[in-house]
Amino acid sequence: MNNDIEKILYSADDIHEVAKKLGKQITADYADKNPLVVCILKGAILFMSDIVRQIDTYCELDFMSVSSYGNAQVSSGSVKIIKDLDVSVEDRNVLIIEDIIDTGQTLQTLVDLFGHRKAKSVKICTLLDKKERRVKAVKPDYIGFKVPNEFVVGYGLDYLGHYRNLPYVGILKPEIYSEN
Ligand code: XMP
Ligand code: MG
Repeated sequence: MNNDIEKILYSADDIHEVAKKLGKQITADYADKNPLVVCILKGAILFMSDIVRQIDTYCELDFMSVSSYGNAQVSSGSVKIIKDLDVSVEDRNVLIIEDIIDTGQTLQTLVDLFGHRKAKSVKICTLLDKKERRVKAVKPDYIGFKVPNEFVVGYGLDYLGHYRNLPYVGILKPEIYSEN
């Protein structure tokens, strides 16, 4: 599987350092706010588990699964909730953990939804920000890395369901795409 990678963009060490840095900021910003930390499945699962271990204040964790992409590499623009949260966001300080913001449609939908559900505040922490492709004006509050406009895999991010378990973020060799 590692052989399919053309280039590593962010190593496991790079990601660990950035999670430590963001965890510190989140700890300071959310002291005494008992945030509800929401992981967007499946892509954010590795980032969620690393970032919450760097948050040194009381918080609760919940999980939501949404789909906008199916197996395609382009956003369909519509977001479907596959698995909703277990708890109510009403009056809660919600911190969304996401793997990557691309067009922003997924996050815009979730921010609007949590607003409708009367969350006290909604902030976004994303490992990667692919700003160039933004069509919705979503602004993440915590960003790991600003990523160029290339399709990336690893550390939660997949191509046709694979590569999520790589400990780093990288770019696939072009022949991997032509084989599919
Ligand atoms: P939007 O466009 O709604 O999309 O911001 C966010 C979701 O799109 C997926 N995505 C990617 N997945 N490599 C991936 O594996 C990428 O380069 C990439 N760009 C977008 C991702 O699931 C994210 O949650
Ligand atoms: Mg995702």
